[in-house]
Formats: sequence, structure tokens, C-alpha cells
Amino acid sequence: MKKRFYVFLPLFLLLVAARQVQAQESLYKRLGGYDAIAAVTDDFISKLATHKDLSRFFTGAGDDSKKSMRQHIVDMLCNVSGEPCVYMGRSMKDAHKGLKISENDWNITAGLLVETLNKFKVPKKEQDELLAIVSSVKKDIVEM
Ligand code: HEM
Repeated sequence: MKKRFYVFLPLFLLLVAARQVQAQESLYKRLGGYDAIAAVTDDFISKLATHKDLSRFFTGAGDDSKKSMRQHIVDMLCNVSGEPCVYMGRSMKDAHKGLKISENDWNITAGLLVETLNKFKVPKKEQDELLAIVSSVKKDIVEM
């Protein structure tokens, strides 16, 4: 009995330690890394750009501007989810100033983000963490 205890104790401790390391992994890693974040961003942007109430914000933007915005969003999500990607875009206040984004636009956007995260089977915990981060810039984006 005692012998078994000494065999299983280190194994048990190893499992506990492994779980702790897993729990400390960055949101970036838990979301699946760069490629997963880029795929989520592409899906989310295409939902925004084709939504009947939001497409007006994106009409008139050239392909290059769209690519630049997409890359900035990927870099920003990568950066805020705990990895050392560098965000080189404008501040959220400057980028959205004058667009007159309303509370209703924001709520539709948040719903579309959840739709995308569900499509990619992102677990609830990671969804909540990402939504909390995104919501922290709401005050800089919503103007009316
Ligand atoms: C109602 C919601 C939103 C709408 C309608 C919206 C719309 C836009 C538009 C039209 C632009 C291009 C502005 C320009 O180039 O003049 C833009 C840029 C950008 N947006 Fe949003 N946005 C929304 C929410 C968000 C959220 C939640 C994030 C962050 C996760 C975000 C991140 C960005 C970034 C990173 C840029 C690019 C900044 C740059 O190029 O310097 N946006 N947005």
C-alpha cells in the first residue's frame, strides 16, 4: 500500500502541475494561435461588411484599405490576447472617430462576434475573456 502511494504521488503532483501550466496559457494560445485568430477575424469582418445595418461603414473602402484594416485587427487581437504581436494601427478613438457608431451598431457587432466564435467552437470561457477585452474599447468606438 505504502509502495503504491509513493508511485502514484509523483504522478498525481505532475498532473496537478500540468493542469496549472495549462490554466496559465495565454488566451492567444487557448484560442489556437495566430492562424485561428486570423480565421476568426476574416469570418467576423465578412459578417460585419455584409450585414444590412453595418455594411454602410465599409462601402467605399478600397481593397488595400480593407487588407490593412484586417491585418490591424489580427495584430490587435494577437497583442491583447497575450502574445508579443505589435499593433501598428491608430488608436481605437482615432480610427472610429466621426463614423457615428451607435449603441445598436455595437450590439449587432458583439452578436456577430459571438456567432463567429461559436462557428469556430471557441469555448465559453475564452469567448467571455475575448468579449471582455473587446468591450473595454467600446467607449472609444461608440459615439452615439
Ligand atoms: C460597431 C462596431 C464597429 C464598426 C462599425 C467599425 C468600423 C470600422 C471602420 C469603418 C474602420 C476603418 C476606418 C478608417 O479607415 O477610416 C475601422 C477600423 C478599425 N477597427 Fe473598427 N469597427 C467596429 C468595431 C471594432 C472593434 C470591436 C474593434 C476591435 C476589436 C475594431 C478594430 C478596428 C481596427 C484595429 C481598425 C483599423 C485601425 C487602423 O487602420 O489604424 N473595430 N473600424
